[in-house]
Amino acid sequence: MLRFVLDNVQDTNRLAQLVANHLGKGDLVILSGDLGSGKTVFARALLGHLGVNEAITSPTFVLVKSYQGRIPIEHVDIYRMENPEELDILCIGELLEEGHIVVVEWGEKALGLFGSSYLQITFERLDTEISLEDEIAGYAKRFVTIEFLGSKFKDRISQLESEIRKIWSVA
Ligand SMILES: Nc1ncnc2c1ncn2[C@@H]1O[C@H](COP(=O)(O)OP(=O)(O)O)[C@@H](O)[C@H]1O
Ligand SMILES: [Mg+2]
Repeated sequence: MLRFVLDNVQDTNRLAQLVANHLGKGDLVILSGDLGSGKTVFARALLGHLGVNEAITSPTFVLVKSYQGRIPIEHVDIYRMENPEELDILCIGELLEEGHIVVVEWGEKALGLFGSSYLQITFERLDTEISLEDEIAGYAKRFVTIEFLGSKFKDRISQLESEIRKIWSVA
């Protein structure tokens, strides 16, 4: 587990770039954290670095949006899903098997249903005194926690970890 502070939205975007460089076919990325913590900001940057050129809008109301980057990517948001069993209709397992990258916002709502191999990135607010203007403008700090489940990430993670340690001070 890696935990460190992102100072602003530029930092969040920079992390997305590092992570994107280590993603490949069939990887599942779970983005966790409260409403407004930065999941969609991160996902948008991640997809951009994975080669998606079109505009990336939040999938909150449509559950899933499909993109073509250097490989096919699904951007999922299960915030509005009332019953985690509904996850079945999205066929995430099949999409991963076909080699798609799947990025799921609010994945912690159904963590047990995602199998045994994923990268989980959690965002938490840190500034309590920041003005709303600065918050919206992307100048707020976030704790980020990166966890990996499954052996397939092992080698890539140690590389990612050393890149992260060059930039941020990791707990
Ligand atoms: N360090 C930061 N990283 C990401 N977003 C930040 C940061 N600081 C401020 N923000 C702001 O927080 C909001 C995050 O919104 P969003 O990504 O849609 O949240 P979520 O998808 O988690 O509900 C944006 O308005 C963004 O400008
Ligand atoms: Mg979102």
